[in-house]
Amino acid sequence: MADAPTTADAQKQAPASALRPRPPKSPTRVPKLDPLQGELSRRAFVWHGMAGFITLLTLCFMRFFFPRTLFEPKTRFTIGYPSDYGFGVDTKWQQKFRIWVCRGASGLFVIYARCTHLGCTPDFKPAENKFKCPCHGSGFDTEGINYEGPAPKPLLRCHLELDPTGQVVVDTLNLYDYEGNKAFKGVAPASSGPLLAA
Ligand code: FES
Repeated sequence: MADAPTTADAQKQAPASALRPRPPKSPTRVPKLDPLQGELSRRAFVWHGMAGFITLLTLCFMRFFFPRTLFEPKTRFTIGYPSDYGFGVDTKWQQKFRIWVCRGASGLFVIYARCTHLGCTPDFKPAENKFKCPCHGSGFDTEGINYEGPAPKPLLRCHLELDPTGQVVVDTLNLYDYEGNKAFKGVAPASSGPLLAA
């Protein structure tokens, strides 16, 4: 009968690493908070907040030095000499001043390019020789008379006069209806009207 293995035999068979005593586990390290660093970040936060607040106050203060101006197109301006405009419709001022300069049998007049239906800006259609509103289809002839679509009345005309150099001055605040009656109660212009015979 074989002898039972003794402790000495077991120690002989076990690997050396298993027999080596393990070092005691070091306690888990809890990182220490640096109180100085926390204080610094708190200070930085406060400083940034104060800097933002001061900047905002400065901007609000500086706002009072700038005028509250609306940059709208001029309502009174010159467009050159009457001889610069031939018979028919000239659209070169449509974008800048919202007007068309027209010359008919009776002379020079300027139509204000605002549809009398709901105020859209019509386009001039040279092929059809008419003004056509893109919004609801109103049509006006070259005198500005409405003849199709929902527009209830003709286009308005601007006040015209000549300055001392002979150039045409247009005033889009003083408008007239087709018959030459004042369309709005404004300050009456000193001279001339919606038509220049020149
Ligand atoms: Fe011109 Fe309606 S706004 S047709």
